[in-house]
Amino acid sequence: MVLFNSPEQWQAFDKTHIWHPYTSLRDPLPTYPIVRTEGVYLELANGNRLVDAMSSWWSAIHGYNHPALVDAAAKQLNTMPHVMFGGIAHEPAAELCARLIDITPASLDYVFLADSGSIAVEVAMKMALQYWFSQGETQRRFFLSPRGGYHGDTLDAMSVSDPENGLHHMFASVLPKQLFADKPSIAFDEPWQDEALNSIKQQLATHSDQIAAVILEPIVQGVGAMNFYHPTYLQKLRHLCDENSVLLIFDEIATGFGRTGKLFAAEHSNVEPDIMCVGKALTGGMMTLAATLTNHQVADTISNGPIPNFMHGPTFMGNPLACACANASIELLINQDWQSEANRIENKLRLGLSPLSDHDAVKAVRTLGAIGVVEMRHSVDVAKAQAFFVDKGVWIRPFGTLIYVMPPYIISDDQLNQISDAISRYVLQTTC
Ligand SMILES: Cc1ncc(COP(=O)(O)O)c(C=O)c1O
Repeated sequence: MVLFNSPEQWQAFDKTHIWHPYTSLRDPLPTYPIVRTEGVYLELANGNRLVDAMSSWWSAIHGYNHPALVDAAAKQLNTMPHVMFGGIAHEPAAELCARLIDITPASLDYVFLADSGSIAVEVAMKMALQYWFSQGETQRRFFLSPRGGYHGDTLDAMSVSDPENGLHHMFASVLPKQLFADKPSIAFDEPWQDEALNSIKQQLATHSDQIAAVILEPIVQGVGAMNFYHPTYLQKLRHLCDENSVLLIFDEIATGFGRTGKLFAAEHSNVEPDIMCVGKALTGGMMTLAATLTNHQVADTISNGPIPNFMHGPTFMGNPLACACANASIELLINQDWQSEANRIENKLRLGLSPLSDHDAVKAVRTLGAIGVVEMRHSVDVAKAQAFFVDKGVWIRPFGTLIYVMPPYIISDDQLNQISDAISRYVLQTTC
């Protein structure tokens, strides 16, 4: 049965019946019909190709349809696309967890495979709570986060995301109440000052016996702020958490797998968290998959507690197809000089975007690893900006005041120039 006789028909259906991320059904933002992907390109229904500067929200680090990933998926698809993880073990999951234990901070030896980033954050929070409840410390129910963070869209993940930046404000009255400290204020490359820790130090000192864990995105606060902060912040925070006997959770869902110029952003500080979440680029953008890792102390305490089971188990946990893609993606990444690619992208984006910092409409320009950010003084009109960028042959989706890009690592210098050029033209035609 043919449901739609033309692209216009399915687009019209999409517009009237389908919610897209963070949009209204009544007054939807325009959507662009994509019919094919290849390398760094998204192909529109009209045959035009766009250079994807977003890596499909940080995930497609090797570009699209990479033969190594497609082969791995096809092989797994023919053998065992899915099987439940309850009471069943399989090699793709074992291989993946061994790889994750190998490449993440040394103390992280235990893995829970989740099905999306938000769920990995939920799992991390439940692990921290169960760690304390197992020791009878049932008053440790709160999480402490710096403002400016973003950890996902499920209720608990929302509760530790920035309480005021707009995404989740409507739900404030029903979200679990958490504790917040000032946003990390010293930039990645500014001189460090200890005062930057005053607020989080104060919160820890006042509430330490009620806090299960501090949760934050290491080095790069992503969607919430695109804030690149100083590595010393994490070193000092690790000490503060130890002094106050509070667990430390790193959300590396956006920053992981080379995006910031280190394999994991925590490596900028040489700090190990007690619990760490990864997702997004884990499968190279092929499938949805995330993971929560932890250390002996947390795993042993939970396992020796009055309820030794860790009570979480999504239906698609450890999906073999996703694990096979993740295995292929990690292999591909670590067997190439990804660090040089991240440096090349950083240099090129800095060269292309930094002249914009003089423009009146621009508040700041930042680059780190394979991430470039132009922070505007006023909110960007997403529909208008996207139409502008599509016309220039690039795919960029601004958010709030932020025009940000994190292209696939295979992007060429010419394609990076095309991205910077499109952003520059957009900014130059903007009035304050
Ligand atoms: C740092 C961080 N944590 C968690 C999430 C949520 O991941 P997902 O969208 O896969 O649920 C995101 C998504 O953007 C993120 O950037």
